Amino acid sequence: MKQRVALVTGSSRGIGRAIALELARGGYAVGVNYLRNRNAAEEVVGQIQAAGGQAAAFAADVGSAADRERCLDGVLATFGRLDVLVNNAGITSPGRKDLLEATEESWETVFDTNLKGPFFLAQRAAREMIRLRNEGRLEAGYIINLSSISAYAVSSNRADYCIAKAGMQMMTWLLADRLAEEAIRVYEICPGVIASDMTAPVKEKYDRLIAEGLTPIRRWGQPEDVAKAVAALVSGAFSFSTGERFNIDGGFHIRRL
Ligand SMILES: NC(=O)c1ccc[n+]([C@@H]2O[C@H](COP(=O)([O-])OP(=O)(O)OC[C@H]3O[C@@H](n4cnc5c(N)ncnc54)[C@H](OP(=O)(O)O)[C@@H]3O)[C@@H](O)[C@H]2O)c1
Repeated sequence: MKQRVALVTGSSRGIGRAIALELARGGYAVGVNYLRNRNAAEEVVGQIQAAGGQAAAFAADVGSAADRERCLDGVLATFGRLDVLVNNAGITSPGRKDLLEATEESWETVFDTNLKGPFFLAQRAAREMIRLRNEGRLEAGYIINLSSISAYAVSSNRADYCIAKAGMQMMTWLLADRLAEEAIRVYEICPGVIASDMTAPVKEKYDRLIAEGLTPIRRWGQPEDVAKAVAALVSGAFSFSTGERFNIDGGFHIRRL
């Protein structure tokens, strides 16, 4: 039996961590990518291995071409194949500066990490999946892109983040269209307000907004809510769907009067 393999970027913490654990529970060998937090990544690997699964940690800045290549090479050398890429790694806008004060430096960091990196990682992953398919070793590949409600909801102190996340929808459509004939399905997951280190600094604000009815489902999203959606998408249950956006947001996207 072939063991299917997933690479989850930014899976040392938060949403990515929950996705890595969920995919491992589903039988995937998992590449746990991280930027700096080696101990946290090793903890995720240890947890997967303790449950009888396979995992390995790969340090790489997804914004760096050399790092992306090394990461993909590492996953292929360790596990021999790649079935799923989850483009999860992302950062918020450094300093959350008002649009009138926003800097090119912040823009470049956010775009490198949140859009350019995921695009070129998807490109390389797709090439590998196509190669495996041509060798008769892969039936279906999946690329899952994590965007955000910030793709369409304005935060004027995070312009670079919003614009990069908006770009992820077009990136998903482009990849979905080009890769459909290669049996690679591409989906966008659009998380709402999810409890993680990223949202910890704005916890009080969102506690209040959620209590006041920001979302029809009045609770914080949990990383596991997103992870379960990823597991469902890569199960093949949506094989006649590609390029789709899945809102995991407590109903935030519903316009209300
Ligand atoms: N939390 C939310 O409410 C929310 C809502 C919508 C969308 N999202 C999106 O969901 C994704 C995960 O968010 P999160 O809340 O789980 O974030 P988080 O708690 O801040 O975790 C970020 C993860 O990404 C890794 N990372 C950061 N920069 C990286 C880089 N350049 N290269 C490789 N890995 C990098 C971090 O690694 P280290 O541990 O090594 O630093 C960490 O594992 C992001 O794309 C985010 O934009 C989050």
